Amino acid sequence: MAHDVAAIVLAAGKGTRFRSDQAKVLHRAAGRSLVGHVLEALRPLDLAQVIVVVGHQADEVRAEAEALGITGLSTVIQTEQRGTGHAVQQAMPALADGIDRVLVLAGDTPMITSAWLERLLEDSVGVAGAMLTARLADPSGYGRVLRDREDQVEGIVEHKDASPAQLMVREINAGMYAMDRGRLVGALAQLGDDNEQGEIYLTDVVRLITADDEPFAGTEAPAEVIAGVNDRTQLAEAAAILRRDHLLHLMSEVGVSVLDPSATYVDVDVEVGRDTVLYPGTILERGTRVGERSTIGPNTHLTNVEVGDDAVVHSTRGVDAVVGDAATVGPFAHLRAGTRLGVATKVGAYVETKNTSLGDNSKVPHLSYLGDATVGTGVNVACGVITVNYDGTTKSQTTIEDDAFIGCDTMLVAPVTIGANAYTAAGSTITEDVPAGALGIARSRQTTKDGWVARRHPGDHEG
Ligand code: UD1
Ligand code: CA
Repeated sequence: MAHDVAAIVLAAGKGTRFRSDQAKVLHRAAGRSLVGHVLEALRPLDLAQVIVVVGHQADEVRAEAEALGITGLSTVIQTEQRGTGHAVQQAMPALADGIDRVLVLAGDTPMITSAWLERLLEDSVGVAGAMLTARLADPSGYGRVLRDREDQVEGIVEHKDASPAQLMVREINAGMYAMDRGRLVGALAQLGDDNEQGEIYLTDVVRLITADDEPFAGTEAPAEVIAGVNDRTQLAEAAAILRRDHLLHLMSEVGVSVLDPSATYVDVDVEVGRDTVLYPGTILERGTRVGERSTIGPNTHLTNVEVGDDAVVHSTRGVDAVVGDAATVGPFAHLRAGTRLGVATKVGAYVETKNTSLGDNSKVPHLSYLGDATVGTGVNVACGVITVNYDGTTKSQTTIEDDAFIGCDTMLVAPVTIGANAYTAAGSTITEDVPAGALGIARSRQTTKDGWVARRHPGDHEG
């Protein structure tokens, strides 16, 4: 652990260019908030302190940051967003005594990696400060890095304040710095707001430090690593890169087959096991975990679903559900919250489940709705079965015990229990419990009227 290093993460801004009611740093890219990506990059560095500056929607941003459980994390408030320099000024009093160096990051650079942050820290050893830069084909919007004749960093000029000659500079400021605490304190005290935007710019500390003949290191990093997200177009671009990198990791490090990475959307916190195959149109979100040798997709959207090994999930929507080993689901199944499918279960075409557990080897192959049901092992639910779980006011429970057989088109009017090994006859509306080993039959008897057609429609269907 770097006990003498603290990070300050600036996350107080509104993000005007997002045109959003939600603070920019809370917007998600590949399943994680922008500020969450930055904090996750910091986590392995194990710094003594991580101070997040919050302001716009402070409570929400604080909750998001604290939920990650990063050691040493605290927040400070910047009530008025007067610029990045002003934001750092608010954080300085929160620094602990033993801190010698300060890493300053923005909350809107989600592609930054731990490796590059470590590099930045290394480069700041023995100098007043270091910063990451990048050379961009289109540097618009970013601050430009100004270097002297010896190629030493002299300062940063914001896009809006730059002269035509400075606008030609392709090297941009990534907004990530590691600075000696004493130098930073000295420079922060001298910041003003005499610029195009009337803001207190953090970028001015670089010129203030180099003006004292203190060298400031500038390390060039790949554009994709340092890119900032200021609007929704950049958000989509960042998300695509983050997803691509996660899929590359799954393919090359884990051994997952992805038929078409450009048509497969897997959030960064989703785990997928070895020899699993992802078909196009697969969207795996928020904490979804897939085991080994499973097949997911095509066209499957799973949110917080745990899928076991050797399972098949085809053209399915699932939320907050569990799919056991060797289960087969779909095509066209809807697994709603609280669905738990056991080992080697089958949930087939046009089946919807909610708050329902299916014991091992049980099957619901077609066109059924199971809600608030507890189904034992080895149960066969034939086609078109419905748990009538809602009477307009209350939800009631259906219990189907082991090895029962529910005939086609059975209505199970809950609360109701079908005992072990029991049968229900096709077309039955079951309102009373069926004991173990019994047959429940609840339908009107058929009458057949011989010769009815000829009597009703004389002359029809002759010869
Ligand atoms: C900033 C840099 C620019 C750099 C770019 C890199 C300054 C003045 N400019 O510009 O040189 O090229 O980042 O991406 O620093 N924030 C606060 N409080 C404030 C203002 C901003 O906490 O009062 C936070 C924002 O929430 C954001 C971060 O600071 O997370 C950066 O602010 P932003 O407005 O996006 O700066 P840029 O214009 O991108
Ligand atoms: Ca920015």
